[in-house]
Amino acid sequence: MARIAFFGAGYAGLVSGACLADLGHTVVIRDVVAERVEGLRAGRVPFYEPGLAELIARNQDRLSFTLSMDEAVDGSDFLFVCVGTPPTVSGDANLSAVWSVIEDLPQDLGPTVLVMKSTVPVGTGEKVRAELDRRGLTQVGYASCPEFLAEGTAVRDFLESDRIVVGAFEPQHGEAVGALHEGLDAPVVQMDVPSAEMVKLAANAYLATRISFINEIANVCELVGADVEDVARGMGLDRRIGTQYLRAGIGFGGSCFPKDVSFLKLLAGNSGYHFHLVSSVIEVNELQIRRPVAKVQGHLGSLRGKRVALLGLAFKANTDDVREAPSLVLAARFLAEGAQVVAWDPVVDAQEILHGVEVADSATAALAGADAAVVVTEWPELRELPWAELRETMGNPLVVDGRNFLDPEVMRTAGYAYEGMGRATSPFAALAETEEPGTKLRQ
Ligand SMILES: NC(=O)c1ccc[n+]([C@@H]2O[C@H](COP(=O)([O-])OP(=O)(O)OC[C@H]3O[C@@H](n4cnc5c(N)ncnc54)[C@H](O)[C@@H]3O)[C@@H](O)[C@H]2O)c1
Repeated sequence: MARIAFFGAGYAGLVSGACLADLGHTVVIRDVVAERVEGLRAGRVPFYEPGLAELIARNQDRLSFTLSMDEAVDGSDFLFVCVGTPPTVSGDANLSAVWSVIEDLPQDLGPTVLVMKSTVPVGTGEKVRAELDRRGLTQVGYASCPEFLAEGTAVRDFLESDRIVVGAFEPQHGEAVGALHEGLDAPVVQMDVPSAEMVKLAANAYLATRISFINEIANVCELVGADVEDVARGMGLDRRIGTQYLRAGIGFGGSCFPKDVSFLKLLAGNSGYHFHLVSSVIEVNELQIRRPVAKVQGHLGSLRGKRVALLGLAFKANTDDVREAPSLVLAARFLAEGAQVVAWDPVVDAQEILHGVEVADSATAALAGADAAVVVTEWPELRELPWAELRETMGNPLVVDGRNFLDPEVMRTAGYAYEGMGRATSPFAALAETEEPGTKLRQ
């Protein structure tokens, strides 16, 4: 079993560090935020991720947290870099946290392998290798081992990985990193460093492409009277296609897809290639996020003074992450149209992130007096709401389901005007031919 230092106690570092401890390794996780480290030492997980607190508690004998570089690297066989790589204003990767880890490495390191788990542009490994060599740190090997976990299911994703991708300059370093994962029932796929870096960007861009694709199918379904849920089911059962990432809705958000797709587009552009398909994926997503605004306007007309409830703020269920969340765009768009916006989320502290938005402490409270509600995050509790009773509390019973999460029949039977994304039957579609937008529904 190895001793592993981790840099970054975020979603990727904390989950993969705790999982490697679970496999029997001794893991020391270093972060630079004192309150994060103190909280973790006291058993507090700094974000919402199902199963993570239990995993950390189960492995507390092999897992420790520190602010100290020396404490992290002393005697470590591997140095895993899991710091954030957010986009810069130009959309390229901001690698300043990665470089600060490299710069802070002490000169007297023993033989070790630096493992890049942060998502970085292709070519980063070669630059880091060159910097390590420039500093004379030739005893430090280098490997790329991109992380594929998804927030909300991160612990399971790591422990039940489909594959471990490892890129290395020296085969023995790649083999050593692969061997760390013994105990997982997953193939280790060895390759060179640029290819491993590209796997991560290509995988996320491909998944994002599927989402934008099915969203465009949904938009066409609305025009031609088809139902995207049936279309996706019919497509997905084809084994060549598969069912994953074919859920139509308001598009992708989060800390990974938007930035990784942008990284790939700009990486190609910076190298002289216009990646048309990926550019379209981004554009489709930007427009898709806004579609609920037009749908609500279709029912209510002008939104000035109308009260709109946003149900869910996290970019998806089972996380409190709001980085690049569609809710942020939707809140801003509704406010710009003059609506009053009230928001609810079971785990996100909305007060911290949204300005000019009223925060409700329950979905029921958010719906009270609302002229429209938009399902932004597929939180399971939304299915359990007593929708029939809540109808009376709304100013106008209109629900736009941005995740196709609620049952249209249940909603209509409960007396709502219900619209999903690309779902065939909207009672309003028939009304719209004969009525002024929204008149019937507002009565
Ligand atoms: N979040 C995900 O679902 C996910 C999945 C796969 C890959 N990734 C990739 O993993 C990387 C990290 O993402 P994240 O979501 O965990 O980020 P995050 O922002 O949640 O966490 C990053 C952590 O690194 C710490 N940090 C910054 N500088 C540091 C330094 N010099 N030394 C030690 N710690 C430092 C920060 O304080 C923070 O706690 C990114 O490149 C991301 O693209 C993330």
